[in-house]
Amino acid sequence: MWDEKYEADEYIFGTEPNDFLKANAEKLKPGSVLCLADGEGRNGVYLAKLGFDVTAVDMSEVGLEKARKLAAENGVKIKTIHADLNDFIIEPERWDNIISIFCHLPESLRQKVHRAAAKGLTEDGVFLLEAYRVKQLEMPGKGGPPVPELLYTAAMLKQDFQSLELIQAQEIKREVNEGSKHGGHSAVVQVLARK
Ligand SMILES: C[S@@+](CC[C@H](N)C(=O)[O-])C[C@H]1O[C@@H](n2cnc3c(N)ncnc32)[C@H](O)[C@@H]1O
Repeated sequence: MWDEKYEADEYIFGTEPNDFLKANAEKLKPGSVLCLADGEGRNGVYLAKLGFDVTAVDMSEVGLEKARKLAAENGVKIKTIHADLNDFIIEPERWDNIISIFCHLPESLRQKVHRAAAKGLTEDGVFLLEAYRVKQLEMPGKGGPPVPELLYTAAMLKQDFQSLELIQAQEIKREVNEGSKHGGHSAVVQVLARK
């Protein structure tokens, strides 16, 4: 499904980073970043340009190919891993930062990945997430899965990351303008947490 969407010539989520990531990039810990479901690479490339050592994982090889192209165009390198998060192992104490932007997973996988992500951070490591929340189904903005099973709430994420220090876990409505597939007044949840 994602391979087909990414076959388009355009970067469907744009080439600029996610707004929440950009606003909080200075709070990340210097060092490595694992970008979960990085798609066409706009966020990984942005972080590589800031000097982070970026690894992007996604189940779409078409998306990752565009990510490598975007990196080359920007004069940076990112490591890409083609894997389903069902199978990808996040090693404990491995990453200085893990980010998840609009990575919508079914409940059991979400819990598994988020718990592994919390364990996968180094000391003082940072986890950052923005995702659409259930309320998005009633919003005029476009973007996000059309089913509640793949949408999040702050309560879910607080539960997933209870082992971390939660700096921010908020449900907000905001104008999203991130490529042709994400736009308009939207309901999102944002999490910033530190180990
Ligand atoms: C809405 S896109 C967001 C892409 C990117 N994070 C961004 O903000 O531009 C969702 C991404 O999640 C990836 N994805 C969804 N389920 C996945 C899974 N189980 N394992 C790996 N990647 C997955 C898709 O391939 C797609 O690239």
